[in-house]
Amino acid sequence: MQRRSFVKGLAAATAAVQMWPEMAQGVNNRLSTLRTDLDALLGEADLWRRVRIEFQLNPGLVHFNTGSVGAAPRVVTDTVSQYLSQLEGNPNHNVWGPIGNLAEEVRTRAAEFLGADVSEVAITRNTTEGMNQIATGIDLDAGDEVLTTSHEHGGGVCCWEHLQKHRGVQVNYMKMPNPVQNKEQFLQLLEQHLTPRTRVVSLMHVDTITGMVYPLADVAKITRPRGILLVCDGAHAPGMLHMNLKLLGVDAFASSSHKWMLAPKGSGLLYIRREVQDRIHPISLYSGFSAYSASMGTRNVAHIIGHGVAMDFHNTLGRANVEARCRQLSNRLRSHLLQFPRLRLLTPMQVELSSGIVTFAVDGMPRAEIASQLFAKHSMIVKNAQGTYAFATNPVDKAKKQDYNCLRFSTHIYNSEAEVDRLASHIEDILA
Ligand SMILES: Cc1ncc(COP(=O)(O)O)c(C=O)c1O
Repeated sequence: MQRRSFVKGLAAATAAVQMWPEMAQGVNNRLSTLRTDLDALLGEADLWRRVRIEFQLNPGLVHFNTGSVGAAPRVVTDTVSQYLSQLEGNPNHNVWGPIGNLAEEVRTRAAEFLGADVSEVAITRNTTEGMNQIATGIDLDAGDEVLTTSHEHGGGVCCWEHLQKHRGVQVNYMKMPNPVQNKEQFLQLLEQHLTPRTRVVSLMHVDTITGMVYPLADVAKITRPRGILLVCDGAHAPGMLHMNLKLLGVDAFASSSHKWMLAPKGSGLLYIRREVQDRIHPISLYSGFSAYSASMGTRNVAHIIGHGVAMDFHNTLGRANVEARCRQLSNRLRSHLLQFPRLRLLTPMQVELSSGIVTFAVDGMPRAEIASQLFAKHSMIVKNAQGTYAFATNPVDKAKKQDYNCLRFSTHIYNSEAEVDRLASHIEDILA
């Protein structure tokens, strides 16, 4: 009896292993059906309507806050749940065996997605984790300086403030103009803040408050010849911008795939340029960049496979097309809102400095009131942005905090022109 049930258990586990190719095939079939459908559609509006079917947002809910967290398409979440349960048929074998290998292969796709080499890319859970790994992986001494901006998110700046508190590293903040007029203005500001003790410049790729795209390639031309490490909090970029890290020239980059890449929640990427891997050496990468390693430990491999499918989903649509769509909707919203005298644009107007995020400061009405009316009356989610996030631990830093009383709008591929137009009209009514 015992022997029989053991054999039965083995058979079940073997069947589960045989499921993997079928499940992978299922994902491929769903994505190729989507591709075929899109190829058959001529009008752009039809095309994006077809894409929208892939999502699972509640009926009537309008999601304009991908900058906080995106909505994963069905093919991603189905993949995670299928692999999650199939894996348990023989966990020991699968986590490090066939499924572990599939998870490891996601790094190759991630490297391609970011424009990096696979030996430079690790899978994390989010930007915050990646930034913590970068910051604590650099040998900074008391008195060494990190230069960053007054707009950082806690997830990109707590790591530096931790080093300030515990190792005597000095964190300097550039007070950001609002909006930045052009890239020359920003580069000049940066140069003015560099000192002989600056070891690290830490900038976002896309500003969490204003949506400004930082001119990283130009910054790298300033930092690299001086031996300063250029670290980037790239929370919003992958999945919104069709980006290439080699062209940006950053030394290290951390991002959250659960925002614009539409991956399962708790998915992130970390990049460390090969040439600086001797200067940035996080403990977690001590035994290599692999998804599983002695220094990284056991992973949720089903989840990582879903992360890879999110990249496949973007590649199916075309990353340049996704960026163009995010920008197109953002520009449309910006044009509407520019008409309202009580709103002041905080996002730069130039294409090279703008993105799929647009932000307006509100005059004479608390931002929270507008955001809560939009949700209560119209089921529209926008970011009730709180101004600067810099994690202020002392009164001097607290005084540097700014509150722009602003609303941040993120437009992604599941949004539509009609939603954007309705949003603008509701805001007009609320302001009136
Ligand atoms: C610029 C920036 N960095 C870091 C984070 C934190 O992201 P996560 O919670 O995914 O680590 C955010 C979140 O909104 C962000 O906007």
